[in-house]
Amino acid sequence: METIIEPFRIRTVERLQMSTEEERMAALERAHFNLFSLHSKEVLIDLLTDSGTGAMSTKQWAALMMGDESYAGSESFFDLEKTVRKLTGYKHVIPVHQGRAAERILFQTLCAEGKRIPNNTHFDTTRANIEFTGAEAIDLPVDGALDPSREAPFKGNMDLDKLDRFLEETPTEEVPFGLLTITNNTTGGQPVSMENIREVARRYHAKGIPFFLDAARFAENAFFIKKREPGYKDRPLDEIALEMFSYADGCLISAKKDGLVNIGGLLVLNDDALAAQAKNLLILTEGFPTYGGLAGRDMAALAQGLREVLDVDYLEYRLASAQYLGRALTFLGVPIVKPCGIHAIYVDARAWLPQIPPKELPGQSLCCELYLRGGIRAVEIGTLMFGGTDPQTGEPTPADLDLVRLTLPRRVYTQSHFDWVIEVFSGIARNREKLKGYRILEEAPFLRAFTAKLAPIP
Ligand code: F0G
Repeated sequence: METIIEPFRIRTVERLQMSTEEERMAALERAHFNLFSLHSKEVLIDLLTDSGTGAMSTKQWAALMMGDESYAGSESFFDLEKTVRKLTGYKHVIPVHQGRAAERILFQTLCAEGKRIPNNTHFDTTRANIEFTGAEAIDLPVDGALDPSREAPFKGNMDLDKLDRFLEETPTEEVPFGLLTITNNTTGGQPVSMENIREVARRYHAKGIPFFLDAARFAENAFFIKKREPGYKDRPLDEIALEMFSYADGCLISAKKDGLVNIGGLLVLNDDALAAQAKNLLILTEGFPTYGGLAGRDMAALAQGLREVLDVDYLEYRLASAQYLGRALTFLGVPIVKPCGIHAIYVDARAWLPQIPPKELPGQSLCCELYLRGGIRAVEIGTLMFGGTDPQTGEPTPADLDLVRLTLPRRVYTQSHFDWVIEVFSGIARNREKLKGYRILEEAPFLRAFTAKLAPIP
């Protein structure tokens, strides 16, 4: 059979609130053309993020009922600890409320002014948590990682020559640890090959530098290795994941992605002394080590999520949905980041709407149009999110790219929802030269995308 079906049936449903274009225009105006300010009820298809937006399985809902809410020594913790140890091979399992809490604890333990932390590409919370300690976050992606049209099987890799140069030029005491993000969210959800993980590890370890994985989407990365890297086709996914983790000394996990839960995170470490320091900080701000920032039931659902995510049928369906959407958009002439990843399709709005200069926010223009025409909420990853402000004119200065991310929640939408998205794009394609730019009316001094007020340029 050629058709890849959703490998589940649906037992609980959540009603979608249908809306008219007039209603959506009123909502957009009220939200000052910032989709973060919409009420979720006003959105028909929410592709803002794949983080914490997935659907849990029957087994996860059942696990929830069995959560042990004891302050100390919760059985749900020990079950989670056993599951994570088996998955990663690491010794110390520290639960936190989400990925950035793990980042804060690890970075505040190891980073300081004058330190430099290399990564293939830092996700924005990772960068912000490093910079908050006074350290510097260094991106070393492969050349062409930011070229949307360049096809490569492992475009998320770290550039090994750049890493060699960085390690040669930087005194080792300035590099308290190195990172690698699997999959590389910032460059389009692109995977990192096993060979690259191994080679990055070899280089860090040759200098005695500890190495941690930012492993929010570890299952999707493992699946790409199985599909694309020679020698892995017949290897079970749990073995591939274990091998990925084996090259590092620990990992940070935002469990809101491949943990298949709505909230949760993990800091997992081998080093006893480092784990002890991390647990002290954990107690200070997250909670006692057998619950971290989570309820017992959250840990129970997470343990179950981690046991079910490395399922070939599930990952095959997830890749098939992304490719279905990606292929259809390509057919419509919509430029997307190639090859398409699993957790999102990224549209190159700057290339598709050439009449809108970057300072007039082409990505935001497309986001507003997608919402207005079809109730679709996507997220701008471009000049609004990452650009600066020209001190002379007060206008936005361009980011590297103006992308729109259509992020795919796990096990939530079916193929007909994607058909809707495709039809909305097809309508926009016919009139795309009429789309106008936006200007910022009000913005916060940092992370402006979340709260900025905008207006269309007439
Ligand atoms: N690392 C990566 C690679 C991420 O994509 C994220 C979150 C985090 C760390 C932080 O985890 O949100 O649990 O604190 N990414 C989300 C996104 C927010 O929409 O891509 P968190």
